[in-house]
Amino acid sequence: MRRKLVVANWKMHGNLASNQQLLEAYIKQLSSFKNTDVAVCVPYPYLAQAQSMLQHTNIAWGAQNMSKDAEGAFTGEVSASMLRDFGATHVIIGHSERATAYCESDENIASKFMQAKTHGLTPIFCVGETLIEREAGVMQMVVSKQLEAILNTHGAAVFANAVVSYEPIWAIGTGLAASGEQAQSMHEFIRGNIAKLDNAAANSLKILYGGSVNPQNAVQLFAMPDIDGGLIGRCSLNAQEFEGICRVSA
Ligand code: PGA
Repeated sequence: MRRKLVVANWKMHGNLASNQQLLEAYIKQLSSFKNTDVAVCVPYPYLAQAQSMLQHTNIAWGAQNMSKDAEGAFTGEVSASMLRDFGATHVIIGHSERATAYCESDENIASKFMQAKTHGLTPIFCVGETLIEREAGVMQMVVSKQLEAILNTHGAAVFANAVVSYEPIWAIGTGLAASGEQAQSMHEFIRGNIAKLDNAAANSLKILYGGSVNPQNAVQLFAMPDIDGGLIGRCSLNAQEFEGICRVSA
């Protein structure tokens, strides 16, 4: 039985004062959840704040991106070991908002995934199709190509205890979440692709759904057998709504 995981993705929101309020509310409202794992991925400058406020709580923290390289002359980049220095345990890899705006290639994303694993971070690897791709009926092909970037070079075993987040691009920030059936069908497909190569890795892999999750639609989504939790953007900025989502998964 996989434990559910709910991850807040704050994106580029917050400041020291508002983060403090939000994290205090998270701590107060989420401390009683024993059967679900919760993590919050903050902007880099607030990792120290997350560490100092969350270190003795049941809430983990992490980042929204990291470098594919371990160290070196890479101006503006942040390495996996730097994230570890601040107690981070999770890192989002290949979010579509980055993949499109900063032209991240599948190869880069695969390297980041491996860097995260090597440094003991749990990668949250985002996959998903655009609306045009869904309407053309090629969403499975698109997602399997995204998975292949890692599978073809590193094999399926690296997915053991990792996290994949299925985030249809048309559902992100639009208020239009995938239905439970749409998401389950893709989650089953993702797990099946990995299970063909490594059944144990596929069973331990958590597959989150992301894209306009709220406390109401989480009920149907989280009831699906292959949906192991969610990656939450907008609703994670409101402690009440985030708590509502975590409660559904608890
Ligand atoms: P959203 O974002 O919940 O605001 O749609 C999800 C995500 O981008 O991870």
